[in-house]
Amino acid sequence: MDPMSFILFGATGDLAKRKIYPALFNLYMDNKLPEAFSVIGVGRESLNKKEFQSTVIDSLYEFSRHSTDDKAKKLAFVQKLSYVNVDVTDEESFNELKAFVEGQEEGAGLGNNRIFYLSVSPALFDVITTNINKSGLGDTSGWKRVIIEKPFGHDLKSARALNSTVLRAFSEDEIYRIDHYLGKPMVQNLETLISANPVLQSIWSNQLIANVQITANETVGVGTRSSYYEHSGAIRDMVQNHMLQLVMMTAVRMSERQSVSELRDEKIKLMNAIEPTSPEDVIRAQYTRLTIQDETIVSGYTDESGVRSDSTTDTFVAARLQINTPTWQGVPFFIRTGKRLRSKETKIVVEFKDSLNLSQNASDAAPNLLVIHINPNDGVTLQLNSKHPLTGELEPIKVEFSASHRETPEAYEFLLADAIKGDPTFFTHWDEVELAWQWIQPILEQFDSNTIPLHYYQAGTNGPEEADKLLESYGYKWW
Ligand code: BG6
Repeated sequence: MDPMSFILFGATGDLAKRKIYPALFNLYMDNKLPEAFSVIGVGRESLNKKEFQSTVIDSLYEFSRHSTDDKAKKLAFVQKLSYVNVDVTDEESFNELKAFVEGQEEGAGLGNNRIFYLSVSPALFDVITTNINKSGLGDTSGWKRVIIEKPFGHDLKSARALNSTVLRAFSEDEIYRIDHYLGKPMVQNLETLISANPVLQSIWSNQLIANVQITANETVGVGTRSSYYEHSGAIRDMVQNHMLQLVMMTAVRMSERQSVSELRDEKIKLMNAIEPTSPEDVIRAQYTRLTIQDETIVSGYTDESGVRSDSTTDTFVAARLQINTPTWQGVPFFIRTGKRLRSKETKIVVEFKDSLNLSQNASDAAPNLLVIHINPNDGVTLQLNSKHPLTGELEPIKVEFSASHRETPEAYEFLLADAIKGDPTFFTHWDEVELAWQWIQPILEQFDSNTIPLHYYQAGTNGPEEADKLLESYGYKWW
């Protein structure tokens, strides 16, 4: 692996503490970082090196998968960390940052390879990338890459504007747009699961699949993020990115992948083939408070701090998608995601068609289901029909694999390791982002015009009944 400098904007932020430092440390402990590297935290707070290192150590204690007991190793990692106080709106600050990065590179023999991680509000992408460009920080004799967090735009227009801004400093193949769902172990495993198992590969099409249901339910509410969420809602926060990525990762049919770009190319083709969705096929809803005997147990969305009392922001979205390719023609893909639901669960359920020649108990047969569990535990379940030994009746049985006993790396570990290696497979290409916004845009407009009405569901339930009715109208139910 090439030596590199990892320059992290937003170094004192929440994401850095919860995800980025622990991921870097875990990679370090697993010998998955280059021999020579340096992490340069960039932030507004004025911190000295020691203070910065101790905030990172705190985050490792709290969030790292690897224990921090090995003092020598922990110290060796922490010594790679330094901090520069930068006002990102000030060009002069970037000259100082550049001088600092060059000093580190010379001192530690780091070559001239630089990763810039923008863990900051998207409102700052413009000024940061412009100043990276102007200061010459982006002129390297080695490689440079930029990692960008979502949200990538607020709608189609702003996403395009943002993209052209970032393209002024980095080319498309230097841009690594993070969708952390693509780093989840079971999502990374999907392609292998389908293509390395002839038994699944041969049935992965509309010949045998009746429908696909993708669920990403959360129990948490909007928490302290209302100022962001009020402008985003579930449609931008989850559907535009994570849910559509799960649809594409499920629908992609790859046998032996030849090059890193192939998976993304396939996903782009699929995204292109998703038909515009009619308003009847989209359900939007918002959670209301849960009260027991007049006592509020869980706040409703409009009770949350920072949320307007007449807010119509969606905290739940369900939809039917149709992918217009020979493989998927006629197979509805149902998605649903929401906050303050009964349980935290992310899964993909593939429901198979009824058998053609079921014998006597045909009407009692449950459908075959393949469930890919993504969260809270990784695993796969296959539901089959079996004969009960005593009654002779059909009964559904489950063949299960659970990876919960294994220690699996976090999404950010996979993604950072890939970015450091220069493998963009599990990052979103601009074409995917743009197509996703193109698909979402009419829905956003139908939300605004109330063509898609806002429904309500009580906190702690499975969501609005309209989401159940959506499936019923196609002759299915949510699994
Ligand atoms: C984030 C969203 O991208 O994903 C959050 O901004 C959401 O609102 C989170 O809670 C869900 O991620 P996970 O990994 O917990 O399913």
